[in-house]
Amino acid sequence: MSLLNTDVDYGLISKVFHWLTAAALFIQIPLGFYLVDLDFGEKRITIESIHVVLGLSIFYIILARLIFKLFNPTPKLRNNVFPGQKFIAKLNHILLYLAVFTITISGALKKLFNGERLDLFFFNLEIKDNFDLAEIFYEIHILSNYTLLILISLHITAVIIHKFLFKENLLKRIL
Ligand code: HEM
Ligand code: HEM
Repeated sequence: MSLLNTDVDYGLISKVFHWLTAAALFIQIPLGFYLVDLDFGEKRITIESIHVVLGLSIFYIILARLIFKLFNPTPKLRNNVFPGQKFIAKLNHILLYLAVFTITISGALKKLFNGERLDLFFFNLEIKDNFDLAEIFYEIHILSNYTLLILISLHITAVIIHKFLFKENLLKRIL
C-alpha cells in the first residue's frame, strides 16, 4: 500500500487521518454530553480538561489533514448511479470538515469569552471576557454537534446503501 493517494485509491496517510479523526470523535462527542451533566467539582474539571485537549487535538489533526489534501490528489469518486451523486458525496465531505472546525472553534471561543486562559499547545491565549458572546458560542457548539451527528449518520448510511443497493464496497477504499 502506498503512503500517498493516487487518483483512484486512498494511501496510508489519508487512511490514518480518517480513522484517527473518527475514533477521536466517537470518544469526544459522548464525553461532551457526559461533561455537561456533571456537578461542579474535581471530576468535572478533569473531564473538561480532557475534553479541551482532545478537542484541540482534533482541530489540529483536521488542519493537518486539509493541508495534506492540498499537496496530494483526492481519489476520484466512481461513476454516478443517479444524477448529482458525486456532488452530494463531495458536499457531505466538505460539511463534515466544516462542522468539526465550527465545533472546535466555537468551543475555544466559549471558554475564551468566559474570561478563561486557553492553552492552544503552541501558545496561550486570553481575551477580554464577554458572557453574552460566550453564551452564543456555546449555542453554536451544541448546534454544530447535532449537525455533525446528522452528517456522520448520512455518511455511514451512504456507505451502507452503496454496499447493499449499488453492490459497491466503498469501505475497501478507506481500510
Ligand atoms: C470536535 C471537537 C469537539 C466535540 C465533538 C465537542 C462536543 C461537545 C458536546 C457534545 C458538548 C455537550 C453540549 C451540550 O449538550 O450542552 C460539549 C460541551 C463543551 N465543550 Fe466541546 N466539543 C469539542 C471541542 C471542544 C473544544 C476545542 C473546547 C474548548 C477549547 C470545548 C469546550 C466545551 C465546553 C467548555 C463544554 C461544556 C460547557 C458547559 O457545560 O459549561 N469543546 N462539547
Ligand atoms: C464508522 C464510521 C465511518 C465510516 C464507515 C466511514 C467510511 C468512509 C468511506 C468508505 C470513505 C471513502 C469514500 C470514497 O470512496 O471516497 C470515507 C471518506 C471520508 N470520511 Fe468517513 N467514515 C466514517 C466516519 C467518518 C467520520 C466520523 C468523519 C468525520 C469527520 C468522516 C469523514 C470523512 C471524510 C471527510 C471523507 C473524505 C475524505 C477526503 O477525500 O477528504 N468519516 N469515509
